[in-house]
Amino acid sequence: MTTSNRRYHITTFGCQMNKADSERMAGILENMGFEWSEDPNYADLILYNTCTIRDNAEQKVYSYLGRQAKRKQEHPNLTLVVAGCVAQQEGEALLRRVPELDLIMGPQHANRLEDLLEQVFNGNQVVATEPIQIIEDITKPRRDSSVTAWVNVIYGCNERCTYCVVPNVRGVEQSRTPEAIRAEMEQLGQLGYKEVTLLGQNIDAYGRDLPGVTPEGRHQHTLTDLLYYVHDVPGIERIRFATSHPRYFTERLIKACAELPKVCELFHIPFQSGDNEVLKLMSRGYTHEKYRRIIDTIRRYMPDASISADAIAGFPGETEAQFENTLRLVDDIGFDHLNTAAYSPRPGTPAAVWDNQLSEEVKSDRLQRLNHLVSIKAAQASERYRDHIEEVLVEDQNPKDPSQVMGRTRGNRLTFFDGNIGELKGKVVQVKITEVRPFSLTGEPVKLLQPLPV
Ligand code: SAH
Ligand code: SF4
Ligand code: F3S
Repeated sequence: MTTSNRRYHITTFGCQMNKADSERMAGILENMGFEWSEDPNYADLILYNTCTIRDNAEQKVYSYLGRQAKRKQEHPNLTLVVAGCVAQQEGEALLRRVPELDLIMGPQHANRLEDLLEQVFNGNQVVATEPIQIIEDITKPRRDSSVTAWVNVIYGCNERCTYCVVPNVRGVEQSRTPEAIRAEMEQLGQLGYKEVTLLGQNIDAYGRDLPGVTPEGRHQHTLTDLLYYVHDVPGIERIRFATSHPRYFTERLIKACAELPKVCELFHIPFQSGDNEVLKLMSRGYTHEKYRRIIDTIRRYMPDASISADAIAGFPGETEAQFENTLRLVDDIGFDHLNTAAYSPRPGTPAAVWDNQLSEEVKSDRLQRLNHLVSIKAAQASERYRDHIEEVLVEDQNPKDPSQVMGRTRGNRLTFFDGNIGELKGKVVQVKITEVRPFSLTGEPVKLLQPLPV
């Protein structure tokens, strides 16, 4: 069937991996002849790429879906797709809940969107949630940015943290080959991209499922080896990676980051709790002492490294004293950024059925106290940039002030300064920081990487 002038809209609810999947699915749709529609109400195909990490993320999907299901009753040609983690978790049950749906597809099926849609256009209602070997994508993703790009390196997660749905919905770990990753980065370099973020839910697991062992008995392909293998890709000036797991984090990796100039001094290492008992109940496989040693080692090699993490407040059974251990860790380490959440019981996870759940009041009180401390510490962390010269990679115009551009420091602080986006997009500029806020900075350019007029 012809798809000319058909329009699509994608709403993305989840994490970086979910965003990367959306960009690939958008690429597939454009390749099929669909055109982007910013407003879902003008789209012929709506794809919700969903997240189920916490209950509120899941509920948001249902409210969006309800509206479009209603619209479909008046516009029967509307194609409704639910992709991502809610799709995987709910599967057929979603069809019973929203019979208007045309396609339900789990995250492992993202690259198969064209095939699946063909079945839909042949008149079928399709559910694709069976575990599969992820196929390498041959379509060009439609990326949101023309400066920075995500590159998946490992899909899935083999951990079993007792609160987490990710292993249920993303499946087992599947690493891409170093060659496929490098080829994607080379193409990005040729297209003018300057920064790549390598993605995995547990990126330290990279390569464990690939064949090959070294004479010393370690896996031949590790994240550290991958960084050495890709760091000289022409055009790419910055490399980041996320998410790191304290259980598998190595000093070899820290050394590589210190040694390789393109790898940014930025570490996102979720600790989840600062209390050893809670960490054990979470099945995280490390102690707060080990976590502190990792951060100490990073700071020994890179004193100015930017450190961020995720933490959960109000895990089942968490006592006030145990929660205070989390506050203590945050206070001691002084994170540049911390993603926080109140514990949310998730279907199919062990902790959800324990009988020592905390009340919503206790959880939200702890979350607020944690967030309060986080913003104080982030403000202190920002102070160290004042009067410093930082390298900023310019990504866009400041949407609130067109006379300014915005970009990020190597440590990932959002930074604004006066300049013309037409000249500066994709350029690395030395910026002297004049104003600091907890999560962003303002400065003045001191040196453009362009010759000044004589
Ligand atoms: N792979 C990463 C995190 C993936 S999920 C890791 O191992 O750390 C992103 C974050 O969501 C987690 O770090 C955790 O802080 C939070 N999270 C996951 N499940 C949650 C739940 N049931 N309730 C509240 N927060 C949760
Ligand atoms: Fe979830 Fe744990 Fe896997 Fe992270 S490592 S995705 S928290 S199961
Ligand atoms: Fe959400 Fe799935 Fe990512 S549950 S956090 S979109 S892996």
